[in-house]
Amino acid sequence: MKVTVVGAGAVGASCAEYIAIKDFASEVVILDIKEGFAEGKAMDLMQTASLNGFDTKIVGTTGDYSQTAESDVAVITSGIPRKPGMTREELIGINAGIVKMVSTSLIEHSPNVIIIVVSNPMDTMTYLAHKATGLPKNRIIGMGGALDSARFKYRLAEALDAPISDIDGMVIGGHSDKGMVPLTRLATRNSLNVTEFLSEERLEQVAADTKVGGATLTGLLGTSAWYAPGAAVSEMVKAIALDSKKMFPCSALLDGEYGLSDLCIGVPVIIGKGGIEKIVEIKLTDAEKAKIAESAEGVKKTNGLLTL
Ligand code: LAC
Repeated sequence: MKVTVVGAGAVGASCAEYIAIKDFASEVVILDIKEGFAEGKAMDLMQTASLNGFDTKIVGTTGDYSQTAESDVAVITSGIPRKPGMTREELIGINAGIVKMVSTSLIEHSPNVIIIVVSNPMDTMTYLAHKATGLPKNRIIGMGGALDSARFKYRLAEALDAPISDIDGMVIGGHSDKGMVPLTRLATRNSLNVTEFLSEERLEQVAADTKVGGATLTGLLGTSAWYAPGAAVSEMVKAIALDSKKMFPCSALLDGEYGLSDLCIGVPVIIGKGGIEKIVEIKLTDAEKAKIAESAEGVKKTNGLLTL
């Protein structure tokens, strides 16, 4: 499998690194517009190959899309990251132009590519990639829920004082501080509902901490996080590469599912070699449905800022 990662910043480099380390791809191309930057990141990463034991070939290019030709998967991380105090939505002006240009350039050289969008505001950028390319809806996937769910599991493990491997849980809805819907009712420790162990107040705190997961890190790091975003992307790419039919919450273009249409928002999907092979509709309570509806309104409002 050939994978392109557009953007050699911290998130892009982390995606490339985790994909390479997991050793399922034959080639990863990193593309950036900053002269020599992607080449440098690729060379540095290639020099970890003998140490970390992978055979994936990593190549860097300054803006030459012909080198991305015939990619099976492309990950778009380009654009500006948020700074402390900024919302993801504030990035739309600059990032929309970039995502539009990048997604159309990618399909010129890789007509069969599956695109994973990471750039923020992610749900809106995923929607924009659909509008700009007209690709079938299974072939554009927004990375948000996989990351937000990992952050949810981290917070649950912390609250339960349990190992992460005991924990399962999912965050659906928009990838924004207000829009995320951590499904605390369904989260488990070793198949037992976490509601058995944690009070309602503690679970509300877990949900609140999960929702500001990215903002908390932006405050600490001075820029957007990269390890967990990169790891989440690598798991999604792996599910495509191995055709594993793994379930992730991801931003998908909805057409009536969950009573929503004409927007991309986080819902559980099955990922395999075709990209989004199925959108899974789970039964939600009225309160959860109301949260998703509110989250969708927020995403639609941000979508309304696009000039399509
Ligand atoms: C975050 C960015 C990737 O949540 O949106 O860290």
